[in-house]
Amino acid sequence: METNKLFIETYGCQMNTYDSEVVLSILQKSGYTICEGIEEADLILINTCSIRDNAEQRIWGRLDLFMTEKKKRRLYVGVLGCMAERLKDQLLSHPAVDMVVGPDAYRELPKIIALVKAGHREVETTLSTSETYADIEPVRMDKNGVTSFISIMRGCNNMCTYCIVPYVRGRERSRDPHTIVEEARTLFNAGYREVNLLGQNVDSYLWKDPNNPTESTNFAQLLELVALVSPDLRVRFSTSHPKDMSNGVLYTMAMYPNICTHIHLPVQSGSDRMLEKMHRKYDVAKYMERISKIREIIPDASITTDIIAGFCSETEEDHQATMKLMREVGFDSAFMFQYSQREGTVASKKFPDDVPLQTKTRRLNEIIEQQSAISLECNRKCIGNTYRVLIEGTSKRDAGHLFGRTLGNKVCVFPALGHKKGEYVDIKVESCTSATLLGYIVE
Ligand code: SAH
Ligand code: SF4
Ligand code: F3S
Repeated sequence: METNKLFIETYGCQMNTYDSEVVLSILQKSGYTICEGIEEADLILINTCSIRDNAEQRIWGRLDLFMTEKKKRRLYVGVLGCMAERLKDQLLSHPAVDMVVGPDAYRELPKIIALVKAGHREVETTLSTSETYADIEPVRMDKNGVTSFISIMRGCNNMCTYCIVPYVRGRERSRDPHTIVEEARTLFNAGYREVNLLGQNVDSYLWKDPNNPTESTNFAQLLELVALVSPDLRVRFSTSHPKDMSNGVLYTMAMYPNICTHIHLPVQSGSDRMLEKMHRKYDVAKYMERISKIREIIPDASITTDIIAGFCSETEEDHQATMKLMREVGFDSAFMFQYSQREGTVASKKFPDDVPLQTKTRRLNEIIEQQSAISLECNRKCIGNTYRVLIEGTSKRDAGHLFGRTLGNKVCVFPALGHKKGEYVDIKVESCTSATLLGYIVE
């Protein structure tokens, strides 16, 4: 008898997490139920990331493991997401793979699975200019039931020269705001207390009503609509782009106490020459102007960033410029990477990947080390202050402690005192590490 048990494994960014929930929703309607381990599964879907080479290497390793499972019993394996889109039928060269389905083709999954069960191997990677899955209510797979994601747009039009995303996610398109607000409301009614609005460049969100082209909604307006769902629903968003982040968004953030005081504003490099070569369309002066504006309008905002070490032709001077910018801004935290050349991007065609691996790694380590000191310094400034924290769950280290986040996205750990996830508490910070604030509940 067919049992139809599905196991989904998700890699990459929050968009993939969201997409896996869309996929589960689609497949539940055709009779699949989710299971906890690959041993139980009849169908394994792996939602993949192509952003750096090591992300892809990890997936190949997983496919090898699925192959050993496949030898034991009847099992189908599908590759979804960005690597599916990038490599298409090349993925069929792996014996574990029965189907390859790109990020805009998930509605086709029931059909594709039926074909696979009939003995075919299928590849569907057509990208769309309109698909936003707006009408699909994702089936949530988060563990906490408190915080969740909502995808507000798909694709990216920016063409940063190092980046594979525009090739694997297609053109940028925004989702109907009414469906976004409805989704936020549904989450709130189900007990969720935080939504994170997702897009590769949320500042370029723009919805034009197809029935009334004079009606449009920009990101600041969308943020307000979601903030109005309930004052008890926290609203986060990512990612902001320095070239597009408007004062309008900052004023909206300042106006609603439930919009989180955190901006993730990837800088990538502190060298104008590198920024130009990366095609980021801002320079250091413009970036610093955006930082001042954030600090002026939202004085207690947390600012986080992404940094790439060792991009094509990066010199020691360029690297030092990045180190300097990091100190000047004083980022609360950062995601830091070494440049990984991606086939097909403008950089891979035009610029030699000429910074030796050893140099990339050394620069990255310097960046990480410096950031850790800066993060610690930022967190130390929080000691003695009291913050409203949304409880997300039990601390991994100590069952008697809970953890949650401040409006500024800082993780706080504190003794539970009978409180539970989903509640708001005020936490007085007593001490900290570079990654966590430690404190206690003040009633
Ligand atoms: N849309 C977001 C980020 C998407 S990818 C933005 O524009 O900021 C997340 C991060 O991965 C990027 O900010 C960048 O720092 C990093 N990244 C992207 N391509 C990379 C590459 N080829 N090598 C190393 N890091 C990369
Ligand atoms: Fe990639 Fe740039 Fe688009 Fe971000 S904005 S996803 S870095 S192309
Ligand atoms: Fe990776 Fe695709 Fe996200 S390449 S970072 S999963 S958009």
